[in-house]
This record gives sequence, structure tokens and C-alpha cells, in this order.
Amino acid sequence: MNVRAYDEIDPLEAFRLSLLAFGSAWDAAKIRRVRASDRRYFSDFALYAEERGRVLAQVVPLRFSVRLSTGVEEVGGLAGVCSHPSVWGRGYARRLMDAVHDRFRELGFRISTLTTSRNIRGYGVYAKMGYVDLAPFWSGVRPVTQRLLPGGYRLRKATKADLPAMHSLYRSHTRRMLGWTERDPEQLVWALVKDPDYLSKYRIVTRDGQRLGYLRTRPGDAVTMEEVIAREGRDFRAAVVSMESRLRRGIATVNWITADADVSSFRGLGYTVDGPVPDATMALSLTNKLRTADLPRLFGGTSGRFVQYSTDDF
Ligand SMILES: CC(C)(COP(=O)(O)OP(=O)(O)OC[C@H]1O[C@@H](n2cnc3c(N)ncnc32)[C@H](O)[C@@H]1OP(=O)(O)O)[C@@H](O)C(=O)NCCC(=O)NCCS
Repeated sequence: MNVRAYDEIDPLEAFRLSLLAFGSAWDAAKIRRVRASDRRYFSDFALYAEERGRVLAQVVPLRFSVRLSTGVEEVGGLAGVCSHPSVWGRGYARRLMDAVHDRFRELGFRISTLTTSRNIRGYGVYAKMGYVDLAPFWSGVRPVTQRLLPGGYRLRKATKADLPAMHSLYRSHTRRMLGWTERDPEQLVWALVKDPDYLSKYRIVTRDGQRLGYLRTRPGDAVTMEEVIAREGRDFRAAVVSMESRLRRGIATVNWITADADVSSFRGLGYTVDGPVPDATMALSLTNKLRTADLPRLFGGTSGRFVQYSTDDF
């Protein structure tokens, strides 16, 4: 098995492999745009397992900062992990991931992370390699009754002009949390390069024209809200009540609640918080100076301080 970079293989083969494994794929033009903008990607974009001219597995390595109980640290991330279904179980994905782990070690990273679901085959593969879950992800539900929206609040679609304010709201909302609190100020700009329609799921909460919070909504996926970020408790309540008042169906849902502070906020607003849902973020120590078993504590997963909002899904 040879390890090849994206530029060393036929881009059509990479497309085919992703399409087969995920049901969707990025074409060469999209990959070019992403490589030129998003600083989380490596310059060679992705690594492939190749054997006798066949492209059999893919890993897209990423690098970004997270906040651990020991401080802010740059870690590795694995995205786009897949292998050709005809060779599943034959170790191609594992050997390619091992090669990426070696690269991470060369860069001095102590930790590799990934997002997945306990629902899929990959979860067992990652667990076998030693990856552990960092924290439970919860879901919230509330049958909607009429509630009074405090005066002056408005909810509107987000535009590019909102991005700096959204980032500063996010920074202050996550200032006491651990995990994915170190989002690059440019991250939403990069997401827009990838998908020009990306901002359509974001809403801005304003009062008297001032931006006080934002959230994401994906009604098509039965997610009324996720990543509800607000300056103060009353702004948080206004964001939630505004979303509830727009619901045609009578049940409001919240996706991806991780931090205790958010659990309390939603419970305080009458939501039943339940789970853990199958979504999972896992991590592995790359050094014998750090035990993988200690990573949930380091990321805040055992103290209720872990946070990862949907914008930081990878
Ligand atoms: C997930 C996926 C990459 C796994 O690929 P794979 O080629 O089967 O993985 P490997 O053969 O390298 O498996 C690694 C090891 O896990 C073992 N394994 C496979 N499935 C397992 C399971 N469900 N539970 C435990 N171990 C499992 C393998 O036997 C192998 O053992 P080894 O290390 O002793 O050789 C592949 O199934 C895939 O492409 N799925 C579709 C795309 C996808 O969902 N990607 C994950 C996104 S998070």
C-alpha cells in the first residue's frame, strides 16, 4: 500500500471513492477553492491509500486550535475518512490513519480528533484504534405553547456583514468553556467559499438594531435550533422564543447541546434535555506522555465545560 497526496492521484478517482463511500463528493474546482482559503487544511489537501493503481482509502487531515484545561493547543483532525467498500475490514483506512498520525506527530501535535456517529461502522474502527468519546452530545425538545416575545427583539437572516459580530458573540459565550472555543475569526468566510449558501441557516437576534445573539436553524432536518449564542440570559430566551413563534409544527427541537451552561439554559426554558445522541467527537493521544483516557477530562467532557457547536463539526 502506498500513501499518495491528492495531487499525485487522478482527481476523478478521489471523487469516485468519496461518492461511493459517502454518497457525495467534492470536485476538483471545489477542492481548489477550499485549499486556497481554509487554513485548517494541509497544503496537499488529502492523503490516499493506493495499491496497483487503485485508490482505496482517503483521509483529509486538518489542524486547528482547541482549549484544553491546560490551555489552548493546536491539534490534528481527521475528516473525510473512507475506504472502498470492496476492501472494508482489510486495514486500508487504519494504515492510512496511522500515516496521518505520524504526520501529526512530526508537527508536534499531541492529540488527534475526529467527529463521527456511534451509528456507523467507522465508530468501531476508531474505537479499536484507541479513540475515545470526549463528551456526550444532548438533544432538547419542547412542545410549543404561546410565549410572549419581549419587546424590541427581532430575528433576521444573517449576512456577511454580521460575521465579525457573530464571532465576538461566540467568543464571549464560550469564554468559560473548553473544547471547540478557538474558532478562527475567518471560519465562516471559509465556509462561504465552500458553499455560497452556507449562511442561509444562520439567524441574527437584534434588539433596537443591536446584534445580541445568533443561532442556526435547519427545519428541513427537524432541527429548530442549534448553536444558540447570546450575550445575556434574556437575549438567549428571546432567541429561543423567536424561533418557537415561527414554528408551524408544535414541537421545538435543539441539536448538539454539550456544555452544562447550555443544558441549564434550555432546561430553564422548559426543554427536556435527553441523550446522549449518536453523534460523537473522539480523540486519541499521539504521545506516551499523555493518556488517551485523560482526554475527556482535558477537553472538559467530564466537568460539563466541553463545547462543540455545529459550525465546528468537521
Ligand atoms: C469507516 C470506514 C472508513 C472503515 O474502513 P475499513 O477499511 O473497514 O477500516 P479498516 O479495515 O482499516 O479497519 C480498521 C480495523 O477495525 C476493524 N473493524 C472494522 N469494523 C469494525 C467494527 N464495526 N468494530 C470494531 N472493529 C472494526 C477492522 O477489522 C480493522 O482491524 P485491524 O486493525 O485489526 O486490521 C469505511 O467503512 C467507510 O468508508 N465507510 C463509509 C464512509 C464513512 O462512514 N466514513 C466515516 C466517517 S466518520
